[in-house]
Amino acid sequence: MSSSPTKTLRIGIIGFGPFARFLAATMIKQGHTLTATSRSDHSHLCTHLGIPFFREMDTFFDADNDVILLCTSILSLSEVVRSIPFHRLKRQTTLFVDVLSVKQYPRDHLLQVLPPESDLLCTHPMFGPESGKDGWTALPFVYDRVRIRDEDTCSRFLQIFQTEGCRMVAMSCEEHDQLAARGQFLTHTIGRILSEMEIKSTGMDTKGFQTLVQLKENTIKDSLDLYCGLFMHNKFAMQELRNLELAFLTVKQKLLEKMEDK
Ligand SMILES: NC(=O)c1ccc[n+]([C@@H]2O[C@H](COP(=O)([O-])OP(=O)(O)OC[C@H]3O[C@@H](n4cnc5c(N)ncnc54)[C@H](OP(=O)(O)O)[C@@H]3O)[C@@H](O)[C@H]2O)c1
Repeated sequence: MSSSPTKTLRIGIIGFGPFARFLAATMIKQGHTLTATSRSDHSHLCTHLGIPFFREMDTFFDADNDVILLCTSILSLSEVVRSIPFHRLKRQTTLFVDVLSVKQYPRDHLLQVLPPESDLLCTHPMFGPESGKDGWTALPFVYDRVRIRDEDTCSRFLQIFQTEGCRMVAMSCEEHDQLAARGQFLTHTIGRILSEMEIKSTGMDTKGFQTLVQLKENTIKDSLDLYCGLFMHNKFAMQELRNLELAFLTVKQKLLEKMEDK
């Protein structure tokens, strides 16, 4: 008998950093049962949230989870996955979901290492603790149903984001990476450049400059690991970096030519 789409899920989270904590708050609010494990000890925080925290992967996998949610940094994915004791999985078909901000890399890597009977949903919630602090309405949730046999569990997981009003965008991992290199990676790069320049509010800011200061502040709240991951594990990012460099030189050249014309 298939279960109702509103039935709650048992979700085990691997990697309990800032983004996992942000997602967990909404999942708890919706009534899902969470457990967590991570490299660092987040047991105090988990006690506060009312969810069990396991220092050891083995004991974490003793819980019978419908979903294993991978929330580790992009750079640590392969190391983290290597430490997963897959033989301890309780169910025939467990749904693995990742939320990494690049998509082809986890897709390819997870397809290689997950047990063939497990399902895989690759996702990228295109928002975070800052942009999603007042709710998730209309914020994009990108996903690729890479290998799904248990439709019920997958649709109940997606329902978490639908219920909050996210704009659900089904897209291949490759297409995601192409668009994200131009959008997200470029945004983070400009934010990091502005941070290197130490821009600050001047007391006579234009609206445009206020936007730049805000961009800088939002960008540096994310870890450097996240930014490096966006570059190192998205094959389209290098080209965008070159485009940015070239565009900067072109604009500079136009100014210099104008000066020479005078
Ligand atoms: N921040 C966002 O707005 C956002 C939005 C969408 C998707 N994401 C994705 O969500 C994931 C988590 O992002 P984040 O913002 O929380 O920060 P992050 O710096 O990308 O990742 C932090 C997490 O990675 C773990 N980690 C880092 N290095 C590790 C290592 N060598 N071995 C094991 N674990 C390691 C940390 O564990 P400990 O905490 O235990 O040290 C923590 O759980 C990333 O893949 C990111 O791309 C983030």
